Amino acid sequence: MPFVFDAYGTLFNVHAAIARHREAAGPDADRFSDLWRTKQLEYTWTHTLAGRYQDFWTLTQAALDFCFDRFPSVDRALRSKLLDAYMNLDPFPDAHAVLRALKARGQRTAILSNGSPAMLQAAVATSGLGDDLDAILSVDGLRLYKPRPEVYALVTEALSVQPAEVVFVSSNRWDVMGAAAFGFRTAWINRANMPDEYAGPPAPIVLSDLSGLLTREWA
Ligand code: LAC
Repeated sequence: MPFVFDAYGTLFNVHAAIARHREAAGPDADRFSDLWRTKQLEYTWTHTLAGRYQDFWTLTQAALDFCFDRFPSVDRALRSKLLDAYMNLDPFPDAHAVLRALKARGQRTAILSNGSPAMLQAAVATSGLGDDLDAILSVDGLRLYKPRPEVYALVTEALSVQPAEVVFVSSNRWDVMGAAAFGFRTAWINRANMPDEYAGPPAPIVLSDLSGLLTREWA
C-alpha cells in the first residue's frame, strides 16, 4: 500500500525559513511567514482557476514580495536569505524516522507536491529523505495545481495503483479534501489541533504528527 506525502507543511516545515532569520525579521516575523504561505497557496488556486500557470518557485517569490510590501518593518535585504532557506527547508523532526519505518515494512513511499522539480530535489537532498522515497512527483508537468483531480492522478499513473490503495498524507486540510474526492484514503496531520473543515464523507484519519501513521492498521 503506497503512502504518498504532501511536501510543504507535511514533510518540510514552511516556517523554518523565517525561523532561521527571526531576529533579523523583527516583531512581524510570524505574521509575515503566515501571510507568505497564505499568498503562495492563494496564487496556486487563482492561477489554476484562471487557466494560467507559473511554477511554484515563481509564485513563492511573488508571495514573498507581497509580504515585504504588506509588512514594511521586515527588511527587504532578507529576500535572498529567506528564499535560500525556503529552497532548503528543514523537515519536521519525525519525517525521516517515519519514512524509514514505512520502507522497512515494505511499503512504497512518494511525494506529491505543488513544488517545482528543482525545489523538491533541493529539499529532499538537504533533508536526506531521498533514500526513503520511491518517487517524487511534481505538478509541474501538468501545469495545474492541487486540488485538481489530474494532479492526484499522477500518483495512480506513476505507481500503477488504484486510488483506494493509496494512503495520502497531508497537513493541509484542503489537500486532504482533494485527495479524498479523488478516491484516496487520507490522513490529515493536524499538528496545530485546528478545527475540522471540508466536511466529508469520507472523513480523514486525523493524526497529531506523522508518527501516528505507524501505529495504525492499514490493511
Ligand atoms: C505541496 C503544497 C500544497 O507541497 O504544500 O503540494
